[in-house]
Parts: sequence; C-alpha cells; structure tokens
Amino acid sequence: MTAHPKKDPITGELFAFRYGPMPPFVTYFRFDPAGNKGADVPIFSVKQPSFLHDFAVTEHYAIFPEIQIVMNPMGMVVGGGSPVGADPGMVPRLGVIPKYAADESEMRWFEVPGFNMMHSVNAWEEAGGEEIVMVAPNILSIEHTLERMELIHASVELPFFVPDDVEGNGDEDDGYVVCYVHDEGTGDNRFVVMDAQSPELDIVAEVQLPSRVPYGFHGLFVTKAELRSQHQ
Ligand SMILES: [Fe+2]
Repeated sequence: MTAHPKKDPITGELFAFRYGPMPPFVTYFRFDPAGNKGADVPIFSVKQPSFLHDFAVTEHYAIFPEIQIVMNPMGMVVGGGSPVGADPGMVPRLGVIPKYAADESEMRWFEVPGFNMMHSVNAWEEAGGEEIVMVAPNILSIEHTLERMELIHASVELPFFVPDDVEGNGDEDDGYVVCYVHDEGTGDNRFVVMDAQSPELDIVAEVQLPSRVPYGFHGLFVTKAELRSQHQ
C-alpha cells in the first residue's frame, strides 16, 4: 500500500492505493472510519506500471499521476538491471476518478506534458467542483531524479502540517509545519516547528537531534486524541 494514504479529516475515512507489476497496475481502495477496507477499484486504464508514489484527494475526487518514470520489474529479474527507468517518449497524465467510484468507468485522464510529480502537496476543488487545483513539485530532470532519487524524495517529503487543535481558531492554515533538517556540511540535525501562517515559515521551536534521520523517512503526526483512540 502507498506510504501516502489520505485521511478525510471530516469523515475519518482513509483513501489509498497499491500498485504492482501485473495488471491492474493500480488499485484504488478506501477504509471506513473504523478501519474496515472497502472493495478494490482496479484501474486498468493505466497501461504500464509507472512510478506511482503519491496521489491526491479532494472533496469529490481522487487524482492519480502517471509519470515518465516507469517500473520495469522484469528488467531486474531477467537482465539484472534497475527496476525503475525513464520513458521520455510517454506523455505524463493525471487521472481523475470520483472518490466513491465503484469502478473506473467515470475516470478521466488528462495529458499534462512535462509534469512529472512524485509527491502531492495539496489539491482542492473550485468553481463548484468544475475545476480541480493541484499543487505538486515537478521533477524537471527524470534522469537526474533516477540518479538521486533518495535526495529528491527527501527534499519534498518530510515537511507536514499539524493543525493547532488546542489554541487554534479553526482557520485551514492555523497550525504548524514540522520538518527534520540535516545540514550535510556541518552534520547538524534538527527537528523544526514553523508557523504555518507566517509568510516565510518562521521557526517557532527547534530541537537538536542526537543523530540523523535518514532521507526518505516517512513521518506521520498523530494527535493525543488519535493515540488514545487506538487503545479503546
Ligand atoms: Fe514519499
């Protein structure tokens, strides 16, 4: 299953996907608030296994990227090569499927030349659901990314938003962006807390760490209430 499932903060549902080397290369599914997995939604319109690492969810839709980094598991098995490669001849696409779809019949694919996303930052609907806005870092050089995948991953991976549920006023961006920082020059390691509403993400707290957190580490923020609910 993806390392980047999306939790609906209102319904408590969790949306996720998995991918594999055999069709369907992508399968979409969700969990109800109690953690029960729903039916699989196989996505056969993905014709080849591309590097699908993250996706996005809006109020009504789930959005899947198809990028020019492709999986080639047989290449590794048969030829001893890398299971991941570049396909500069393909045109990247974004696939939009209704969030509660039972199958892919209403999925629509949009070609997005030059847009190869590995992680999504945010997505939402505008114009009454007629438009979807998606924010994601673009990979500018596929070849460079393949060489330095661990670093690219880390540079866009670690920060995540923590809402201020204690003293916050309920604004969407009222809270903190938290992140691990490693200075390769000095070897310094810190955990930093930034004010999400400040224009330049002012650091409001930082903790010196005794050791380095590896690049590519995937974090998850759990509130006190969520932790307690796990014990019930
Ligand atoms: Fe990731």
